[in-house]
Amino acid sequence: MTRRVCDAGEVVRAQVVIIGAGPAGLLLSQLLHLAGIDTIVLERRSRTYVEARVRAGVLEPGTVELLKRAEVSQRMERDALTHDGFRIAFGSGSTRIDLRSLAGAPVTVYGQTEITQDLIAARLSLNGAIVFEAEEVVPLDFSGAKPRVTYRKDGRSHEIACDFIAGCDGSHGVSRACVPAEAISLYEHAVPFGWLGVLSDTPPVGHELIYSRGERGFALCSMRSPARSRTYVQVPVSDSPEQWPDQRFWDELRRRLPKDAAEALITGPSLEKSIAPLRSFVAEPMRFGGLFLAGDAAHIVPPTGAKGLNLAVSDAASLADALIAHYRHGERRPLDTYSESCLKRVWRAVRFSWWFTGLTHRFDEDAFTAKLQLAELEYIAASRAASTMVAENYIGRVK
Ligand code: PHB
Repeated sequence: MTRRVCDAGEVVRAQVVIIGAGPAGLLLSQLLHLAGIDTIVLERRSRTYVEARVRAGVLEPGTVELLKRAEVSQRMERDALTHDGFRIAFGSGSTRIDLRSLAGAPVTVYGQTEITQDLIAARLSLNGAIVFEAEEVVPLDFSGAKPRVTYRKDGRSHEIACDFIAGCDGSHGVSRACVPAEAISLYEHAVPFGWLGVLSDTPPVGHELIYSRGERGFALCSMRSPARSRTYVQVPVSDSPEQWPDQRFWDELRRRLPKDAAEALITGPSLEKSIAPLRSFVAEPMRFGGLFLAGDAAHIVPPTGAKGLNLAVSDAASLADALIAHYRHGERRPLDTYSESCLKRVWRAVRFSWWFTGLTHRFDEDAFTAKLQLAELEYIAASRAASTMVAENYIGRVK
């Protein structure tokens, strides 16, 4: 049951208004609730849409800890897979990055789709306010002491007065867009390809993920469970999913995998198929008076390395801690340093994702880059120091 938020024309109050019911917004709402701070979450889409979105599925140990702290880990602890390592394949060679021995911890495979469902269930069971299908959401007056947010729902206008606004509404959301251009710096780097992803009820080719630099382009074999695969191939960003009937996808994937994986590949009908562009994007700072950006609203990383969700969750936890310090102890410093401390972590992940993308994707007509990729992949395969760099970044534990 969703709590009644407000009647038309009435102004209600919340300590924190959270724009966006993705993992960042929902986790923030849950952590604040557990600390006795009240929030209202405004989401443009329907609950069905939000709960069905297929996204990444590799969780750093720190993300798992945060989901436990948020008391939403029950299903994850039952269903998730623990991966001690992953494989990078490159034509003639292949290397396993042993996360546990090189960086001291495994990663956890559990879909963002499930995390979103778990968080929504937890918020609603605690009577948390989530307004789905909130239209025309506008953050207002956040440079002063009395921020507010207006929106429309079912044709009626609403207003929420608050202390703080958290913009967790993704890259195309209103939160970043409402910041004056002169107050924000944008850093962006795009590549001319995307990932075509397929979800299928077929067993994964192996126990662990395989990132493969094929001569015809990059491919990734990931999974959601022992019976459900999530696989990707690099495609031109101009392609559309309709150009990729299932048979074409599986044939292309097979050609880009190492021989043993290609032979083990079991195909089946796609449950979901979509193309995601690959780009790096960072907005600085992440705070504008009483408006704080978190997750994709502030930064996008290419999916190579699975950092996006983990960064979003880390932002939400940092913001929750800063707000808790403010409400409990009157401390301003954690709020003042929120942006700076997040951006350090963000740039580290941007660097890693950009580097891992460059190492494993095909850049057209660039024979020199291809030779450098192979030399570096062989170096990683041969050097414990080089594979430790990969492992530390992959699990997100870098000092
Ligand atoms: C996924 O399972 O969807 C996935 C895994 C690893 C990545 C990106 C996506 O690097």
